[in-house]
Amino acid sequence: MTILAGVDIGGTKCAASLAVLEGDEITILSKVRFPTSGTPDQVIDRLIDEVNNLKLKHKLSGIDAVGISCGGPLNSRDGIILSPPNLPDWDNIEIVAKLEERFQIPVALQNDANAGAMAEWRWGAGKGTTNMIFLTFGTGMGAGLILNGQLYSGTNDLAGEAGHIRLENDGPVGFGKAGSFEGFCSGGGIARLARKKAEEALQLGEKPAFCQNYNELRNITAKKVGEAAQAGDETANDVFRVVGKELGRGVSILIDILNPEKVIIGSIFGRQQSLLEPLLREELEKEAIGLSLSVCEIIPAGLGESIGDYASFSVAMMALEK
Ligand code: BGC
Ligand code: NA
Repeated sequence: MTILAGVDIGGTKCAASLAVLEGDEITILSKVRFPTSGTPDQVIDRLIDEVNNLKLKHKLSGIDAVGISCGGPLNSRDGIILSPPNLPDWDNIEIVAKLEERFQIPVALQNDANAGAMAEWRWGAGKGTTNMIFLTFGTGMGAGLILNGQLYSGTNDLAGEAGHIRLENDGPVGFGKAGSFEGFCSGGGIARLARKKAEEALQLGEKPAFCQNYNELRNITAKKVGEAAQAGDETANDVFRVVGKELGRGVSILIDILNPEKVIIGSIFGRQQSLLEPLLREELEKEAIGLSLSVCEIIPAGLGESIGDYASFSVAMMALEK
């Protein structure tokens, strides 16, 4: 029996969790989540405390490895978080060294999309595939690539930075680039797009359900827009029409290049599947190579809202092999 600790550092929230691994079977014991706020050191100290609290809560004598899943760019070999666009204050953080010093057990760091891909491949919707793509579609947009039955992370961990691909000459900024895949298909991107559409609607005297007046413009979140769209709000549906179409474009590019068996899409896709899927399909039919599309399943993450926890456990398994 192996005890794994997982640490998931996201642009919006962080999580610490514990799991038991027995053979290929993994069982989550507990997890805690908290908003990503404060300095990197404060966040890391809190994560260490949370792991220790979980260990006490479950009366465990020890933990075998820790896995950290975090948005890139990062250096997985040296365990350094470089400068993720969704973690603006984080710069060259030697997180693996810090956690190894505190826990005295193997610790590994991986890009969150890569880690999510490994998790879906081992335990989720990607089980049994040889070629699959996982897209985060949360606070940011990143791709994890499993090719020929193994993780492909590129020359210096930058493979799968799909969020950086420019899909339109103009559009919301994501990953520092207007009109990028992340600009349209991410929590922040959806909120920015919705702000623009809401402003236009307010100017015409309309009142979108997710933003009834100018003061509410800055409180728009992807979640609110999604709820309004589900309830039939026109402006919110306009936003999702753009997002769904651009998701289709981004996925088409990946399908054309990599010819995968599955494209597994995380967070927001799972929550808004009924809105996004028809739009995504329509665009895929237009854009992707038919023969490639015909063998590819495009589905939400099998691990659902726990994907971040499983992602970090898949990194902990890499730490065990160190
Ligand atoms: C980062 C990726 C990450 C993705 C999802 C992007 O902004 O560049 O490395 O995988 O967000 O968090
Ligand atoms: Na990646």
